[in-house]
Amino acid sequence: MRFEYEKTAVVTGAATGIGREICLALAGDGWKLGIVDIDMEAAGETRELVEKAGGTGEVFRCDVGNPEEVAACADHFFAAWGKVGLLVNNAGIMVAGCIEDVILEDWRRIVDVNLMGVVYGCRAFVPYMKKQGGGHIVNVASMAGMITLFEQAPYNTTKAAVIGLSETLTMELSPHDIRVTVACPLCLNTRLMETASIESEFISQFYLNSFAQARMSAADIASCILRAVERNRFYVVPQPFAKVLWINKRLAPASLLFTFKWLNRRDLAKPFVMWLARHGLA
Ligand SMILES: NC(=O)c1ccc[n+]([C@@H]2O[C@H](COP(=O)([O-])OP(=O)(O)OC[C@H]3O[C@@H](n4cnc5c(N)ncnc54)[C@H](O)[C@@H]3O)[C@@H](O)[C@H]2O)c1
Repeated sequence: MRFEYEKTAVVTGAATGIGREICLALAGDGWKLGIVDIDMEAAGETRELVEKAGGTGEVFRCDVGNPEEVAACADHFFAAWGKVGLLVNNAGIMVAGCIEDVILEDWRRIVDVNLMGVVYGCRAFVPYMKKQGGGHIVNVASMAGMITLFEQAPYNTTKAAVIGLSETLTMELSPHDIRVTVACPLCLNTRLMETASIESEFISQFYLNSFAQARMSAADIASCILRAVERNRFYVVPQPFAKVLWINKRLAPASLLFTFKWLNRRDLAKPFVMWLARHGLA
């Protein structure tokens, strides 16, 4: 892969899913990888796979929701390697349910991991990247931050905030030659649901169906993200149906909201969304 900076990357949430696949894709190109996660067993498996694929991997235990641990992670990798060319803020969790059902502790947990985890990552790595003269940051958000699904406010809200943060930083950091990419995939089958806290039967069923029918794998999403890094693209919207939704939102921002409000008042929204999930379109 063509990359202008040092071929060293720190990837959070690299033990499984998209994070692991990003590491494996880079490993084949001889990168040094910081495999950052709280699941040490699976992170160790990622390291073994990275080394088999030709890269060098180092596992670092870090809860991205803890600012001190994230700062220690940045200090560690810059001390070990001198430079970090790529930071991927990918670690994330799922919390969903109707507004009155999700307990505040779960709201705080998802804000800490999905939003503040990205804030802490950027705060810790950007000063070093400024000093080294540049770098690239990928923030893994979600299509849920652009096109929101009802009964899923905690997840949607954190992902929308990550998109806003990324839009801000791509402008703010451009004088320092620090590039930013934000990834907004639709559903793909990973371990995300295994640690999820979901207070909605509809959302649980929705993910069961959409994960089973997902047309793109974590490896496909990883390769879309890395292609965007190579070409210095800001938005990554990998799935074709996600592109359709996104274009619709840009051209007529209120039309999808109006349609779903109308459908929901007639008890048609859930069957329609479930139909999309069963046909691999969500
Ligand atoms: N799977 C999907 O449908 C989908 C769609 C759009 C966006 N995403 C986003 O992609 C990212 C990766 O998720 P995935 O689908 O690969 O799921 P995954 O559950 O397979 O991977 C998430 C990883 O993050 C780690 N993690 C969780 N909390 C952590 C913490 N506090 N500190 C450090 N690591 C932590 C987990 O241990 C896991 O290895 C997430 O941000 C997710 O929101 C996923």
